Amino acid sequence: MKNIFLSFVLLLTLVLGVQHARGQGYTPSPENLAAREWFDQAGFGLFIHWGVYSILGDGEWVMNNQNISIDEYQKLPGFFNPIAFDAEAWVQMAKAAGMKYITITSRHHDGFSMFDSAVTSYDIVEATPYKKDVLKSLAEACQKADIKLFFYYSLLDWYRDDYFPRGRTGTGIPGRGEGKWEDYIAFMKAQLRELLTNYGPIGGIWFDGHWDQKKWDGKKFGALQVDWHYDELYGLIHELQPQALVGNNHHLGILEGEDFQMFEKDLPGKNTTGWGTPEDQIGNVPLEVCETINGSWGFNLQDRRHKSTRELIHYLVKAAAYGSNLLLNVGPMPNGEIQPEHKKSLLEMGDWLKTYGPTVYGTDKSPLTPHEQYVATRKGNRIFLHVLDPQVKIVHLEDVPVKINSVRHYDTQKKLPYKQSRFGVQIDLSALVLDSTDTILELTISNP
Ligand code: GLC
Repeated sequence: MKNIFLSFVLLLTLVLGVQHARGQGYTPSPENLAAREWFDQAGFGLFIHWGVYSILGDGEWVMNNQNISIDEYQKLPGFFNPIAFDAEAWVQMAKAAGMKYITITSRHHDGFSMFDSAVTSYDIVEATPYKKDVLKSLAEACQKADIKLFFYYSLLDWYRDDYFPRGRTGTGIPGRGEGKWEDYIAFMKAQLRELLTNYGPIGGIWFDGHWDQKKWDGKKFGALQVDWHYDELYGLIHELQPQALVGNNHHLGILEGEDFQMFEKDLPGKNTTGWGTPEDQIGNVPLEVCETINGSWGFNLQDRRHKSTRELIHYLVKAAAYGSNLLLNVGPMPNGEIQPEHKKSLLEMGDWLKTYGPTVYGTDKSPLTPHEQYVATRKGNRIFLHVLDPQVKIVHLEDVPVKINSVRHYDTQKKLPYKQSRFGVQIDLSALVLDSTDTILELTISNP
């Protein structure tokens, strides 16, 4: 009995010991915490999906969607010669759009590296007639313009033999080989080392593709079939550049070593896509929502579903009301230019932000629950209520947990009549002509 008891105590000590060691794993550095703070306030960034797939004008999944063989696909780099690419022009456009950072694909699922990599010849410098490292010019232009640069990095790879076992996608691509998973991990580590060594200070790394290695029974995801070695990948990033923020589009709650959380095509916790992150998995880290201007990430010649500038502004404001940045995407064309429709919308957003930026940048989630027609952001004791529907005559807010002291029209600073009772708040807008995009009300509250 005594022996059993002793073994039990020993086992308990071991279990607790292991848990303790795990819990001690990642403590963000002071630089990292400062970078999180910056990111949290940044509000708006530019996502860029660019690769040799842009030549085919059918999005970044074209290799998978059309089952293009390895032999066929690897002819594409030979045609990739973006002579109109101008890194400074891209950065100036992002700035004029009111964006504070850029996240660009360094290597997407097709396995092609858009930067000079010593561990593969399947990269822009060695395999294209262009021969130049576009990430290098972009990093320099960003640094000059005080824009932070993040690198998207795909975990999933349809090209390399050592991405084996293969995942759920790309199964119809002819010509894929078989190799060793450890080699693939070593390859990714070598590339991450390059990305964090050769391009100056980096904002962070945006991982994607985790879900490819999850079992799927046709209805729901099961367990992972590989070990991504995140401790090593994330550890390497933080060791080389402690301020670099690590995020992973795995659609889960944050894992140890991650510094921000992204939500793909959804406001945090909304999960309208069905594969999004549920509300109870929102982490205590800065948040980012990413969205496309039409329906595609990579350049898609015939995708005409361009959202209007009004819709895009609404999405930016809603993201801010959920305490999140918006990372809005463009898919540059194979010549290196950004499609004119998208450029136009971005510049219009920038014009709007020149006036209304203070109600978006540096704001937090407000205590008012987002509503179909109006959403709110907050800065200290001020709440910016964005009325997104010009038909609204009276704003009804239920569950207002703060005392409102004044309501003004943001543009004119004119005071507006309102009533607060235990049933909520009503604001009378009948004296205003509402803006067709967004009418902003500035509320002051007593208990910030
Ligand atoms: C999805 C897509 C990928 C895209 C990403 C952007 O993960 O697979 O192509 O880069 O979303 O959020």
